[in-house]
Amino acid sequence: MTTEIERAVALLRRGELVAFPTETVYGLGADAASAAAVAKIFAAKGRPADHPLIVHLPSAAHLAHWAREVPVEAERLAAAFWPGPLTLILKRQPQVPDAVTGGQDTVGLRVPNHPLALELLTAFDGGIAAPSANRFGRISPTTAAHVREELGERVPLVLDGGACPVGIESTILDLSRGAPVLLRPGAIGAADIARVLGRAPETAPLAGAPRGNGSETPRVSGSLDAHYAPRTPLQLVSSDGLLFALRNALVAGEKVAVLAPTAQAISHDLVTWKQSPAEPAGFAHDLYASLRALDALGCVRLLVQQPPAGEAWLAVNDRLRRAAAGSGEDDET
Ligand code: TXA
Ligand code: MG
Repeated sequence: MTTEIERAVALLRRGELVAFPTETVYGLGADAASAAAVAKIFAAKGRPADHPLIVHLPSAAHLAHWAREVPVEAERLAAAFWPGPLTLILKRQPQVPDAVTGGQDTVGLRVPNHPLALELLTAFDGGIAAPSANRFGRISPTTAAHVREELGERVPLVLDGGACPVGIESTILDLSRGAPVLLRPGAIGAADIARVLGRAPETAPLAGAPRGNGSETPRVSGSLDAHYAPRTPLQLVSSDGLLFALRNALVAGEKVAVLAPTAQAISHDLVTWKQSPAEPAGFAHDLYASLRALDALGCVRLLVQQPPAGEAWLAVNDRLRRAAAGSGEDDET
């Protein structure tokens, strides 16, 4: 065990926070068995305390300690995708702190696929509750430097594992209510899940939409629109719309940032152009770092060329839609 990991484990055991890399985004971790430790996550993030957290596990062998029912579909998905970017919502064991579950009867569980995260989890030998290591409502961090920018002195240790390979948050699948329901799209798609289960997951109703059976919509903060948001107003545009919006901005003398899959089309002092990868995995990998860098320029607007529709781009389009909806707000909620 490296001394960094020893230090991280000692901090976690003392009820302190440790930020660590996963394959998706960096997490802000605390001992999931300790309500007092978990409370520090909410304080550091500025996040409402009724939002449930994902518990990260060293392996699927730990599932039954946290979930009182492990349906066979959960076992099959864990065997197929863990370690990996898939979170399963299962019925909780009674000892899971309410601070972790937001007081709900379910708990979110995943085994992340990152060597440093797995080393930490194995050495800690328990569950680490961790949301993305950003201030509430802001862009998720995909490097250790992003975490320090977001949280600074609020977190005593940031383990540096380089840039996160996937770049957007895990797929969330609810297995607690019978039929599997996809709550948040991610790198593992509905078709990947259907291949393992032999049936396609349902898709969650939009946040706030009434459910037919009168039951409460699960509190998935990833379903709030004001998420993953830059401070610069973000506009999603078509390729034609991009050139149109750019010309309008330049006529108005506005400083403008562009994220588009094509090479820079207009060269001008007021324009900063970043070329995005043309396939979904590359786009997702770069997305948050690009939004962060462009947001830091202090432009009047950020124009993002909308990727194609379709299953392969679903998770990326979901994050872009939310980023556009929540952008331009200067509060942190
Ligand atoms: O990739 C990821 O999932 C990253 C890395 C760090 O693992 N984590 C992450 O955490 O994105 P966070 O807290 O930013 O988003 C987790 C989402 C939240 O939207 C939360 O509401 C939802 O998971 N969630 C957690 N437990 C839940 C539960 N019992 N029922 C419904 N949703 C739940
Ligand atoms: Mg988050």
